[in-house]
Amino acid sequence: MEDLSKYKGKEQGYFKHCLLEAYLERLFMIVGKFHNTICYVDCFAGPWQSNSDDLEDTSIAVSLNIIRKCRDGLKLMDRDVHFRALFVEEKKKSFRVLDSYLNGRRDDGIETQAKHGEFHKLIPEILDWCKTDSFVFFFVDPTGWKDAIELSTLAPLLERPNSELLINFMYDFLSRTAPQEVFRDDMERIFGIVPDTELMEPAEREAHLLSLYRNNLKRVTPAGREKPRTAYVKVLKPTEDRTLYHLVYLTGHPKGIVVFMEASDKLDLVQKKARALAKQDKRVAKTKQFELFSADEHLKDERSETNLDEVKAYWLSHLTTKPKCFGGREFADMLEETDWLPSEFQKAFAELVKEGKVQNLDAKRARPVKAVNFDKNEALVRLQQ
Ligand SMILES: C[S@@+](CC[C@H](N)C(=O)[O-])C[C@H]1O[C@@H](n2cnc3c(N)ncnc32)[C@H](O)[C@@H]1O
Repeated sequence: MEDLSKYKGKEQGYFKHCLLEAYLERLFMIVGKFHNTICYVDCFAGPWQSNSDDLEDTSIAVSLNIIRKCRDGLKLMDRDVHFRALFVEEKKKSFRVLDSYLNGRRDDGIETQAKHGEFHKLIPEILDWCKTDSFVFFFVDPTGWKDAIELSTLAPLLERPNSELLINFMYDFLSRTAPQEVFRDDMERIFGIVPDTELMEPAEREAHLLSLYRNNLKRVTPAGREKPRTAYVKVLKPTEDRTLYHLVYLTGHPKGIVVFMEASDKLDLVQKKARALAKQDKRVAKTKQFELFSADEHLKDERSETNLDEVKAYWLSHLTTKPKCFGGREFADMLEETDWLPSEFQKAFAELVKEGKVQNLDAKRARPVKAVNFDKNEALVRLQQ
């Protein structure tokens, strides 16, 4: 990933791009084995708040670089996958920069196009561009919610087969406006109902609004496909312990949830490091004194939210003395139900093995890191009730 210095003052963007990059790479390498064409649509492309002339700190460059890397990687596996990428931008000036950037790139086997206009008005054209059957990843990263993240806007994208979406759920913005009477209709369009959060504590309100939004998205079921599933990662304000936004991911494939959560898991530390650095910069700017210790020394201050005892209790409640196989589908259900990270499930299971409470019947020896291999549908059992 690009170096963090390009993201000074917009560290939250760094994390967003790291996630996009990590997830897209895994996704395209998997999908490219089965599909000859892969489409990527950036519905609110920018460039936006870029600190660099080469646009390397924008989702435009990040996505195209990863597409190129995947195309090369797939070629080495004898898969000549055709990639198509569409970038939509409303602002005239940004569109001109976008268009000239795309024209200046030379990416063999990658077809790019820029579209000027408002995303919601262009949806029929975007769907035409996607064609009916191809696999499409839509990135929805707007500056406001109206005509952007509501179900009524996104439904045509969700309804087509083989669509995946990554949506910026601007929580900081939405939590402040949700209780206001003037936004009642907008909130109903986003959440399916007008949320009543007046008596809720901040953490409860956040969980409630996010869950309303995710469940509302899942009301759309494309024909002939599995049930829609969602997962998310939380992006905190760089120098405060408050949520800025959630990146909500929607897919019709259980493997998608597992791969997305694995990518978020790997990036957990990236976000913690970026925040520790941003906080250090803020302290230095305020006190005008350089700090002897590196920002990494403050990593331990970045709280981890999941209580491992809860994860262990969850495992125990899902196991009995009769062996049960756990594969990708079961793991996707667990991740979606709890929002815990894959590494937390692995760590909790490994501890339970050590405590003599559970066993993986398919593991020949104790496996502290990958205690359960969900790709292999391993049989797990509880040793005591
Ligand atoms: C948050 S920025 C995108 C940032 C970009 N995804 C990145 O990570 O580098 C949103 C962009 O959408 C554009 N925009 C705003 N309203 C739009 C609309 N209705 N349709 C298309 N683009 C829009 C803005 O001009 C801005 O460039």
